[in-house]
Amino acid sequence: MKKIVILISGRGSNMAALIAASRAGQLGAAEIAAVLANRSDAEGLKIAADAGIATAVVEHRAYPDRVAFDAALAQAIEVHAPDLVVLAGFMRILTPAFVERFSGRLLNIHPSLLPAFPGVHTHAQALAAGVRVHGCTVHFVTPELDHGPIVIQSAVPVFDSDDESTLAERVLAREHLIYAQAVRWFVEDRLVIEGMRVRLIGGAQTDGSLRAPSWCDMADIKAGDTVQLLGLPDWLIHDLPVEEQEEMKSFVGGITKITEIDTYGYFWVSFPGHCFCVLREFIKRSPDSQAGQA
Ligand code: GRF
Repeated sequence: MKKIVILISGRGSNMAALIAASRAGQLGAAEIAAVLANRSDAEGLKIAADAGIATAVVEHRAYPDRVAFDAALAQAIEVHAPDLVVLAGFMRILTPAFVERFSGRLLNIHPSLLPAFPGVHTHAQALAAGVRVHGCTVHFVTPELDHGPIVIQSAVPVFDSDDESTLAERVLAREHLIYAQAVRWFVEDRLVIEGMRVRLIGGAQTDGSLRAPSWCDMADIKAGDTVQLLGLPDWLIHDLPVEEQEEMKSFVGGITKITEIDTYGYFWVSFPGHCFCVLREFIKRSPDSQAGQA
């Protein structure tokens, strides 16, 4: 059984997604041994504690410099003798000595398609740059910030109507999927670092450019399958007239078929008068017989 320690600084939604994946048996033979934060007010600490996971705080402000903080942090991590350390919204720059110590077993998630848009405010950077495709990246950590061998990326489209928050929401849904996938691959010993590249033993690539999340994202559903619509993302309906939003909401719970899975991994469904795309978490496979009902 591999042990995982997760480091957070705030909200902890990626951490929560990993806890949920772990509970569902989707991380393989691994347990989340502890969640550590560099601030006592990190909201994610409560989520972890409520899930029965050990938590600890190593307050960065209590240390004179990065070297001292990183040494204390490393010590708190080593208590749990982890096989893997997962940075999940951990907002501290780590010293080369720390990175070296956990080299090859330190993962980070970054909300952009690296190497584009390192640093902070990635969604604003993407909007300002006018890119049509944005996304997120899980990578092994190297001393250089937001750099390092890429394990998995997921791309989302950027719409004209997007603002920072709609784009962030769309990307975050993908973060939650790919982080669990990356951790599972690590746990299964399938990731081999070769220079700046990561080779995946056993393959699971669904296209030539992006290593897409397989078990959680699209592998189990294909075009033509009958599915139930479980919900509608806000970003899809927020700029529609209110009556149309209400009409769209009435489709929730309805059964339909997947008409297409596009290159972004979006699932296209159709209901009377509407054809739209949703992510995997908004649909569930359904018995064929009821297809066509909204
Ligand atoms: C995520 O967007 C992550 O990619 C970035 O910081 C954010 C943390 O969100 N590094 P959460 O704390 O996991 O909700």
